[in-house]
Amino acid sequence: MSHILVTGGAGFIGANFVLNWLGREEADSIVNVDKLTYAGNLATLASLEGNNRHVFSQTDIGDRAALDQLFVAYKPRAVVHFAAESHVDRSIHGPAEFIQTNIVGTFTLLEAVRAYWGGLGDVARAGFRFLHVSTDEVFGSLGSNDPQFSETTAYAPNSPYSASKAASDHLVRAYHHTYGLPVLTTNCSNNYGPYHFPEKLIPLIIANALGGKTLPIYGDGLNVRDWLYVGDHCAAIREVLARGQVGETYNVGGWNEKTNLDVVHTLCDLLDELRPKAAGSYRDQITFVKDRPGHDKRYAIDARKLERELGWKPAESFESGLRKTVQWYLENQPWVQNVMSGAYRNWVAKQYDA
Ligand code: NAD
Ligand code: DAU
Repeated sequence: MSHILVTGGAGFIGANFVLNWLGREEADSIVNVDKLTYAGNLATLASLEGNNRHVFSQTDIGDRAALDQLFVAYKPRAVVHFAAESHVDRSIHGPAEFIQTNIVGTFTLLEAVRAYWGGLGDVARAGFRFLHVSTDEVFGSLGSNDPQFSETTAYAPNSPYSASKAASDHLVRAYHHTYGLPVLTTNCSNNYGPYHFPEKLIPLIIANALGGKTLPIYGDGLNVRDWLYVGDHCAAIREVLARGQVGETYNVGGWNEKTNLDVVHTLCDLLDELRPKAAGSYRDQITFVKDRPGHDKRYAIDARKLERELGWKPAESFESGLRKTVQWYLENQPWVQNVMSGAYRNWVAKQYDA
């Protein structure tokens, strides 16, 4: 049985990737390596219980000995690396975990992979891939008339999160350049969809709207993000893994630039339609709150390389993807309630002075 090893497969994008991969009956089984931080949630993977094509290991990517054992036991033909601390606001309150997991953790994983890959036979060595999942935030912030980020845009990360991701991208690049490790890197824009942790804008707004709470918009709400449905990101990763050129980076985006205010208005309108309030609109709950320090103004992705070279483009429009997402949250309130208990409450109190 051939395996791919996925890190961070109990988080938002990683879990969507694992569920989609196994749902599509791809040839390889999955070894899912996740530390289960506050962002990792086994409830997301509940449908895989008893599925012998999914092996879960609660492991920190900083634990070299545990990684070595997993490589010996499962001999994966590829690694898809999602595991990270991923929330910008948390990186502002406490950067240490971001340095530890995103930089030191990625370094430790790369070292384990290098040792494992170096010991493979010629054919397996040539076929092996390490796919590093990264972000468009490494490129910094755009002005409103700047061209979108391309694969050759210079790195200019502005938050501890994006700086730690940029460092990990550089390490991955260096392991290819220096050791010949067959790496691929993707830099993707803002994802949204099922199983998104409600500390991020879209699921937070849905949860607060339904809970009758305020809908916090940082600053003037005019910061722009490029939104991509998570299933489209997973499809892009599958394409890059299958056919991407070793050593290359690929930008992944949805061609959906929206201000935060636009996003929140659209969410309110969808909720007004699908779960109307007794009186008034969800828009009445919108509140402007203090801005994020160093808040990047605009992200926008030029995803033409991926389309030109590998034929990938997003299947969902912002409208269709957001409607699916809102419907998913309405139908999966127990999942939301489960992740919003416990540690989540402490975060809300710290971030929003609630
Ligand atoms: P997430 O925070 O939802 O999930 C991260 C997962 O990694 C969790 O399951 C967590 O338990 C696990 N993890 C954290 N530290 C770990 C460690 N030391 N060892 C093992 N597992 C650990 O993140 P996400 O939004 O799913 O993002 C996944 C990846 O995609 C990240 O690398 C992120 O930088 C990148 N990315 C995210 C977006 C986005 O919009 N969410 C966009 C582009 C790129
Ligand atoms: O661009 C890709 C990145 O997108 C990923 O690398 C990150 O892991 C992911 O978290 C996301 O980062 P953002 O900072 O863009 O996402 P977030 O959902 O935190 O915020 C989106 C925008 O909404 C941002 O401009 C800040 C704003 N915001 C966010 C929250 C949580 C608000 O106005 N109010 C809020 O309460």
